[in-house]
Amino acid sequence: MNQEKILVIDFGGQYNQLVARRVRECNVYCEIYSYKTDLEQIKAMKPKGIILTGGPDSCYEEGAASCSRELFELGIPILGLCYGAQVMMHVLGGHVCKAPVREYGKIEVAVDRSSKLFADVSEKTICWMSHNDYIEKEAPGFTIIAHTPNCPVAAAESAERQLYAFQFHPEVLHTQEGKKMLHNFVYGVCGCMGTWKMDAFVEMSIQAIREKVGDGKVLCALSGGVDSSVAAVMLAKAVGDQLTCVFVDHGLLRKNEGNEVEEVFGPNGPYKLHFIRVNAQQRFYDRLKGVEDPERKRKIIGEEFIRVFEEEAKKIGAVDFLVQGTIYPDVVESGLGGESAVIKSHHNVGGLPDYVDFKEIIEPLRDLFKDEVRKVGLELGIPEKLVYRQPFPGPGLGIRIIGEVTPEKVTMVQEADAIYREEIAKAGLDREIGQYFAALTNMRSVGVMGDGRTYDYAIALRAVNTIDFMTAEAAELPWEVLSKTANRIVNEVKNVNRVLYDCTGKPPGTIEFE
Ligand code: XMP
Repeated sequence: MNQEKILVIDFGGQYNQLVARRVRECNVYCEIYSYKTDLEQIKAMKPKGIILTGGPDSCYEEGAASCSRELFELGIPILGLCYGAQVMMHVLGGHVCKAPVREYGKIEVAVDRSSKLFADVSEKTICWMSHNDYIEKEAPGFTIIAHTPNCPVAAAESAERQLYAFQFHPEVLHTQEGKKMLHNFVYGVCGCMGTWKMDAFVEMSIQAIREKVGDGKVLCALSGGVDSSVAAVMLAKAVGDQLTCVFVDHGLLRKNEGNEVEEVFGPNGPYKLHFIRVNAQQRFYDRLKGVEDPERKRKIIGEEFIRVFEEEAKKIGAVDFLVQGTIYPDVVESGLGGESAVIKSHHNVGGLPDYVDFKEIIEPLRDLFKDEVRKVGLELGIPEKLVYRQPFPGPGLGIRIIGEVTPEKVTMVQEADAIYREEIAKAGLDREIGQYFAALTNMRSVGVMGDGRTYDYAIALRAVNTIDFMTAEAAELPWEVLSKTANRIVNEVKNVNRVLYDCTGKPPGTIEFE
């Protein structure tokens, strides 16, 4: 799609995706590329502006991530953030070195409001700093436009060359006026118009899918999660009953989830598509019998999922297109954009089916962040309940039951989780917490119930806040919510006599238990 575009050049910092999301929140389209990207490629994309991200290196050391001087001579506005600012100064002849005082946290910064980037920003404003190195001397031709007591060059500009450097992180919410500063850059300096809007995206995408698919047949694996649901509805709106959705119920979904998916996509729902629900619960339970190792469980669930899907696909016969609910973070994290090829390969449930006969893949959400997928979902009229569903792992409750999975344990964790979700929603916290769920520990312990002794299972409750799911903090839930949930679980869920709250962050814990 022909969009005005900002490029985020990634030096390996932890906030690379956050920078891009903030730009998109300004209604400007934005993509992430590695700092190794060829200059010619950058030019060919005709970006309206470039943002250089933070990074872990010291820019003056041998082998540090860097960029060429020519990048700054293209006449394209550039904003460097933290490491990106240091690289800009270093390459253009300033001096970067180890800071005498390391700055970390929320710091008051005095800014020069005559700079375009600080238009309408308070003279003293709280910014998020996190750096060991600092810019001791700005590069020739630059003016200092912000400072703190420990940081003489908290921001600098060369306005006529449209080059700007911030030592702090405007993309992080702790920088109170960061959004305004980024807005000032993309509109005030880069001259963007703000054409990236989800209603227009939906309209254009539906049109493009129609043209691409023609009268072809399309197959989609529905998981019930947000991404595949939004992708399916978009396809349904574009090509109607040329689309077949296969929904494999592996018996490891949350309580009622299978029926909720069927209500939306099934014959009584609003869409004109072919819906096939495969009730494969027993097959999965049979294969999981006696299996305790988490990775083996993941593998079995992934493989079985593909197998069931393939069997259905064979019945349907050859199709022209297979839909995938890939979203932009998947693209970045699989190393295709950006610098940080992470670690989530084990999270892709099983990969692509081998034996499905299709010609091409359609990925209608490939350019979108999760919050944008949700907006698109709402634009498409998908119920809020489904659009705001929290992330759910592909192997489902299989990795929220420690040790062997049995149908009885699935019921226990489903019931406990449903109570927990209900109480969180009643407290109005459901959209505030990044991810929360109940898990079944493999621990049984002594309790008393009425006059009798019990020897039953312990449920663990987890709630975390996170930006990117790579690190997370345990959420500080109000005691009333926890105690009410715990009471209800021990009273209402059979074979559970104890409830624990997990206070561990990630690291050292993970979000899931297995
Ligand atoms: P962890 O437990 O690795 O979870 O801290 C980080 C995020 O990834 C999700 N997750 C998975 N998603 N298949 C998935 O599709 C998996 O095997 C899997 N394991 C973890 C988890 O729910 C959290 O959002």
